[in-house]
Amino acid sequence: MTRPKTRMLPFRFGSDAEFAAAREFLAGAGYTTAAICERLGLKDLGQFKPLGEGRATPPEVNDRLDALIRMFLDGMPVEAPVLARLLGDDGLAALAALRLVGRHPEAPDRWAARVMLYPMASLYIASDLGVHAPGLFRAEELMRPDAVFPALTSNTHTFLQQLPATPCERLLELCAGTGIAALAGARSAGHAWAVDITERSTRFAEFNARLNGIDNVTALQGDLYAPVAGLTFDRIVAHPPYVPASGPEVIFRDAGEDGEAVFRRLIEGLPDHLERGGRLYCTCMATDRAGATLEDRIRGWLGEAEAEFDLLVVTHFELPPTDYYLRLASMGVVPWAIAEQRSQLYKRLEAERILYLTLVAQRHGPRPSFSVRRENGEGAGAAEADALVAWMTAVSDGSWVERLAAARPRLSDAARLVLTHAAGDGGWTVTAAKVQVEYPFRRTVELSVNVATLLTLFDGTATAPEHLRRLRDSGAFPPEMPDAAFVKFLGDMVAEGVLRLDGGAPVEAAPAG
Ligand SMILES: C[S@@+](CC[C@H](N)C(=O)[O-])C[C@H]1O[C@@H](n2cnc3c(N)ncnc32)[C@H](O)[C@@H]1O
Repeated sequence: MTRPKTRMLPFRFGSDAEFAAAREFLAGAGYTTAAICERLGLKDLGQFKPLGEGRATPPEVNDRLDALIRMFLDGMPVEAPVLARLLGDDGLAALAALRLVGRHPEAPDRWAARVMLYPMASLYIASDLGVHAPGLFRAEELMRPDAVFPALTSNTHTFLQQLPATPCERLLELCAGTGIAALAGARSAGHAWAVDITERSTRFAEFNARLNGIDNVTALQGDLYAPVAGLTFDRIVAHPPYVPASGPEVIFRDAGEDGEAVFRRLIEGLPDHLERGGRLYCTCMATDRAGATLEDRIRGWLGEAEAEFDLLVVTHFELPPTDYYLRLASMGVVPWAIAEQRSQLYKRLEAERILYLTLVAQRHGPRPSFSVRRENGEGAGAAEADALVAWMTAVSDGSWVERLAAARPRLSDAARLVLTHAAGDGGWTVTAAKVQVEYPFRRTVELSVNVATLLTLFDGTATAPEHLRRLRDSGAFPPEMPDAAFVKFLGDMVAEGVLRLDGGAPVEAAPAG
């Protein structure tokens, strides 16, 4: 690893022993995600709001956890004697050795943080202090174009939830920021690379690797794939910038006139860098346009290689652009003038919908490709997306019939039958039925009332051929209907998440074909 220009950086690259001492101190102090969430009453750390952003000020710093939250998350100083008493001389020395904390220049009787530092994904992650958590720095120092994106956001939380923990050989994180996904993924990867365009983020990723004692991650600086030219990977993950650039430059946010410039180039580079059988997991914002869905547009960016890629687009939300910006402006997230400017921009681009999404793109061998879109259900993440990709892969390569025949389908616990009744003949008559599923993906499937009723037969005790035989014997299945129609119906119900072939996700994950 190359030596950083430490003058520019808030922290110091210490020795392995100094990194280990800091790490062990933080762990020993109980500075964990669960402890912070419990102390602050949060569901997850993605919900964290610093004191400057409206959280009520707690009265005192009473223990080590309070002290660490106050400095590293709220960016507020703590009195030196209080800190010495709570953290102990050794603890304070371990943090100071890496320059994670320092004496406040305007109040030397206080200590403050030089970085934000938080436990995430069972790692300790440092990023730049924010304007609401200034620590030792003044606001003007915090508004740098190359500020390191805090992984402590709901966006990074969503991104991480969509990343698989299954083993891979060579993992590439593009647009890595703190390097959180490469560092978390390194546990199950042979080697991981964290690439970011800014020198500062690259050094933070390198620092975070050292802080966590991880030695199978290489942090490289450069534009997207440039630092890994000639290398291929079986997993690529990215949370790129996606906001249309219209103000002072912020590198972690701005992505060209339409907000898709980085995402587009990232997709264009896949044919050179993603191995057959490998998958990309990318969380960002992008648009459906008049006459071209996002999936159509992604296929266009893949060029001649598009026939080698399957696409699963998992949406976290989607809205017409004007509605989205009206919402942001009314919440005070963007000024009304920007909201108006963006609405006009998207009108010019003929963007019909803004999607906040995770794209799973799988490279495959010679067989037909699929493109599927699903709305994410609460609590669903990488395992559920991978299971759907595995099932659609089986549908594409023809192996699904065999898998279905061997399985015992079960009606999903998340399925609800919704009936429409019409008045007539002196009472209510059922005129339409639909099955709604909330998890793993939100789907509504219209069915005939008879077929919807039959679904309760699938209780996980019989195979598909056994069901078919029983239905034929009882006369419930129309004799003129071929077996293949029944099998196709079951396959569709598995793809919709109405039927499961195991207890959790729609189907057990299978290797990519
Ligand atoms: C939204 S942040 C995500 C950071 C981190 N992956 C996370 O999820 O917390 C986007 C990151 O992309 C980096 N970036 C922007 N343009 C890039 C490019 N062309 N090549 C590589 N990195 C880029 C920024 O410096 C920033 O660190």
